[in-house]
Amino acid sequence: MPIDIARLSAEIDHLAQFSDVPAPAVTRVLWTPTDLKGRAYLRQLYDEAGLDVRTDALGNTFARWVGSEPGLAPVATGSHVDAIPHAGKFDGVLGVLGALEAIRALKNSGHKPRRSIELIQFTSEEPTRFGLGCLGSRALSGARTPDQLRALKDADGVSLDDARRNAGFDGSLETVRLPDDPYHAFVELHIEQGLELERLHLPLGLVMAIAAPAALRVEIVGVGGHAGATLMPGRRDALLAGAELALAVERAALDTGSVDTVATTGLFQVHPGAVNSVPSRVQIEIDARDINGARRDAVVEAIQKAAADIETRRKVTFHLEILNADPPATCAPLVVNALETACREIEAPFQKMVSRAYHDALFMARVCPIGMLFIPSRGGISHRPDEYSAPEDIARGTDVLARTLAQLSKG
Ligand code: HGY
Ligand code: MN
Ligand code: MN
Repeated sequence: MPIDIARLSAEIDHLAQFSDVPAPAVTRVLWTPTDLKGRAYLRQLYDEAGLDVRTDALGNTFARWVGSEPGLAPVATGSHVDAIPHAGKFDGVLGVLGALEAIRALKNSGHKPRRSIELIQFTSEEPTRFGLGCLGSRALSGARTPDQLRALKDADGVSLDDARRNAGFDGSLETVRLPDDPYHAFVELHIEQGLELERLHLPLGLVMAIAAPAALRVEIVGVGGHAGATLMPGRRDALLAGAELALAVERAALDTGSVDTVATTGLFQVHPGAVNSVPSRVQIEIDARDINGARRDAVVEAIQKAAADIETRRKVTFHLEILNADPPATCAPLVVNALETACREIEAPFQKMVSRAYHDALFMARVCPIGMLFIPSRGGISHRPDEYSAPEDIARGTDVLARTLAQLSKG
């Protein structure tokens, strides 16, 4: 399949310029002016590729290559283009621009899809702005209702509705959810964001399951005071309570005994944040995952128990909220087999594996058969400016995606 890797690499680099931090880092947060510039650039590319484009009330964007039998359920592909602070330029972007390149390559090869092929650019896969990952795919799959979405507020207290309208996405949230059986299949191309493929010296990964993510937000309220005049006995230091909780998070993950359990305290804000003032309040966010849903739930329970114990012992007050606790997803043989056939067509070796990161495919699994294709991440690095995948790996992944879409759109 003729993949124009020079054009694809140039488009990835061009999109990376739409960032709120200097290169090589990329920060592109939901509905910021930078995000809107990136969206406008992508829309221009979809139009140039001759695709039919629509955008929904949340900003999910659909670019469709209409097939010869437009009444059949389309084949979908895609990913996200938002980037957490100080990230890299490939996470999500590969699955959007790679999908566009796969469609262009299929068009150039004379492929005539029976089923339409639809590229989906999902809104806000990252949890950065509203604390909830996969906002767009949750809404599309019905995993979050319009009322639940409307209740979301960002760190500045701006509601989701106000934020989306200010960004030019109005229309009713009730129109976002997809109809039943919206797609024949969904396949997402993504960087691995881990070390497995590089360690095995393999160029491709076929995902069999996607880990179950959970996120918790904890506010701890203690008693502040002068760092010099507040004696140690009787202190109710919110930061130290939070520090104990962070260690309990680590302990809960390690105690399952499984390498598949991970837990992270990734956000820790201290108030008032002065060296000579006893912290009176902290806000913490915790991420816990496992490919085994029950084991992940046990970690969440252990964290809740630890919080109750620390609260009593340190005489502080905990407000703990579970932001999400989603089940894992299994990839469908229809899609995995098509990916495997495509790998064999180009005699590319591959490894069947799990995805420890979550993706929009996790929620698309609720509405259609899914599959994911990974390419290697150098050093397993991701969510960092030095995130990198080699052009030859990008081209190979895009080629396999194109061949997979060709198979699925014939069926
Ligand atoms: O956190 C994740 O797994 C994804 O990169 N948002
Ligand atoms: Mn990410
Ligand atoms: Mn991603």
